[in-house]
Amino acid sequence: MRKDFRNVAAETEFLVGHTPSGGRVLDLGCGTGTNLRELGARGFSCVGVDQSARFIEYAQNLGGKNVDYVYDRAENFTSEHRFDLVYSIFMTLNYLPRAELRPVLRTMRDLVRPGGQIVLEFGHLLNFVEGYQQHTVAHHRGEGVLITRLARQSIIPHAGNWRNEETLLVREGDGTLSLYDNFFDQAVLTGPEVRGLLDDAGLSITAEYGGFRKEPAPGHGRGPLVIVATAREANDR
Ligand SMILES: C[S@@+](CC[C@H](N)C(=O)[O-])C[C@H]1O[C@@H](n2cnc3c(N)ncnc32)[C@H](O)[C@@H]1O
Repeated sequence: MRKDFRNVAAETEFLVGHTPSGGRVLDLGCGTGTNLRELGARGFSCVGVDQSARFIEYAQNLGGKNVDYVYDRAENFTSEHRFDLVYSIFMTLNYLPRAELRPVLRTMRDLVRPGGQIVLEFGHLLNFVEGYQQHTVAHHRGEGVLITRLARQSIIPHAGNWRNEETLLVREGDGTLSLYDNFFDQAVLTGPEVRGLLDDAGLSITAEYGGFRKEPAPGHGRGPLVIVATAREANDR
């Protein structure tokens, strides 16, 4: 399903363009390691951290060159190394409860080497508003499986959250049918809120784009907000 939602080749090219060749890379909220395997194969030295033991186990089973997976919460992760590139993409930061955003951004600031780059992808308010559909039904095909996703979206205004409820109907080639119900909340962040959070964490924005192909940053309308930042010197925060 994820292949239908993202362009991993564009993400990889963008991340490679913000890292010195062979550099040290950290992915916070790495999930099943989609981006890390691409970067590891290109010779970068990669670490991925995720709070889901299941995702980390899945990623470890897939393997991949030059990649270490760590089961931990991003805000608690420490390392003896400093990284040339620290990133968190595919809307991972929208999945964090708001109270966790500042600690995670501070972890990034502490773990990036002086002059290293931080790449973040956010869904912002207008993404959610313009993409809003009360109900959607979509079919995803691949590897002999047909997944039908019935999704319902609602807004929780006082929490500033977007609730996604979904039912997944999975049909296998041999006719086996399974049903899964799931819901998750995403924080609806605005551009000014994101910029304020980065500033508070001691990060300076060096570029903003509307996607990994360096589309113009979204003043309005659809498109994620891709931010490149660096850490300010300790005495300049
Ligand atoms: C939308 S997924 C994106 C996964 C991955 N970055 C990708 O591109 O496929 C968000 C991920 O963030 C992880 N996550 C959420 N909160 C976290 C936290 N506080 N620390 C570490 N991982 C976290 C979830 O377990 C999930 O794997």
